[in-house]
Amino acid sequence: MKSENTNKENILTVENLTVSFHTYAGEVKAVRDISFYLKPKETLALVGESGCGKTVTSKAILRLLKVPPTEIKDCSKILFEDEEVLKMSKKRLFDYRGKEVSMIFQDPMTSLNPTMTIGNQIMEGILIHTKATKKEAEKKAIELLKKVNIPNPEERMKQYPHELSGGMRQRVMIAISLACEPKILIADEPTTALDVTIQAQILDLLQELKEEFNTAIILVTHDLGVVANVADRIQVMYAGKVVETGKTKDIFSEPKHPYTFALLKSVPRLDTDSDTELYSLGGTPPDLIRELKGCIFAERCPYTMEICKEQEPELTQISPEHTASCWLLHKDAPKLDEWERNA
Ligand SMILES: Nc1ncnc2c1ncn2[C@@H]1O[C@H](COP(=O)(O)OP(=O)(O)OP(=O)(O)O)[C@@H](O)[C@H]1O
Ligand code: SF4
Ligand SMILES: [Mg+2]
Repeated sequence: MKSENTNKENILTVENLTVSFHTYAGEVKAVRDISFYLKPKETLALVGESGCGKTVTSKAILRLLKVPPTEIKDCSKILFEDEEVLKMSKKRLFDYRGKEVSMIFQDPMTSLNPTMTIGNQIMEGILIHTKATKKEAEKKAIELLKKVNIPNPEERMKQYPHELSGGMRQRVMIAISLACEPKILIADEPTTALDVTIQAQILDLLQELKEEFNTAIILVTHDLGVVANVADRIQVMYAGKVVETGKTKDIFSEPKHPYTFALLKSVPRLDTDSDTELYSLGGTPPDLIRELKGCIFAERCPYTMEICKEQEPELTQISPEHTASCWLLHKDAPKLDEWERNA
């Protein structure tokens, strides 16, 4: 399935990305033929439940998956501007990872080096990837700490990660990832471990920095609520596939895939009572080792039809930037209100 956008100006174009892990239990088909694009300065959210392939997709973009046991199938293409990432030399990859694309990992505790000061960790990338002297790198590191709103940056430079709160550590991670002013920042669940107020501050900070550094962002999260005010577009993933993609307002106001309906229902709303129990989708995603036939969501979908169990749904283009894969979008399918009347 091809990406719907063939614009040469995409900063990143992923086509037919297919990633498997070869394990003793069998082949785990973690990412199954996904295609998408990212435009310069855009924020794209990758959203879906645990295990749907968000981190594997992100790591594939940075070529951080160890091959073997990972297999990136030959059909896969990852273009950074017009350069094939999967064919980059070791030397080119080294610069690509530091200067062009950087990633904030899911867990800041384990991504920061506990034995190195904050200052040295920020300066490291600047010294490796630019021609800056130690003095210049130090000045830049202090500036970055100021930009991520860390008070007393000169003092913080000398501290170790364990001396900082979770929110501060996450700010340091952002400073490290922006040190070489990358064109793309991949933020993998950057706020999961933080309380709600700090979460909002970190998301605001990412927005501000994006404007300042002109960075495009791939924001990875399992929580649709987190992305409402931050993302330009949303890509919903399920069991290694993209089931729906669209502009944020279209996904929130006119979702087309039943899995997106379920994710939206589980977002807390301001107009609901705090005692109201949040919706939770029953069942679990399919085992990715199993051969999957038909629609991957069929076992949990409230609208499953006979065709869903037999044939994979086609990708339907709803508007230029809105696509979804569901048989309900077929012209002969029952309309949802009709369906609900007959239920
Ligand atoms: N090294 C590995 N070996 C085998 N299976 C793996 C490996 N890494 C990931 N997987 C499997 O690939 C699938 C996708 O994993 P991934 O980490 O991308 O999920 P995720 O969407 O990031 O989930 P989470 O929200 O929990 O971070 C999962 O089923 C996972 O168990
Ligand atoms: S194709 Fe069928 S099973 Fe899959 S999401 Fe649509 S209605 Fe549900
Ligand atoms: Mg993950």
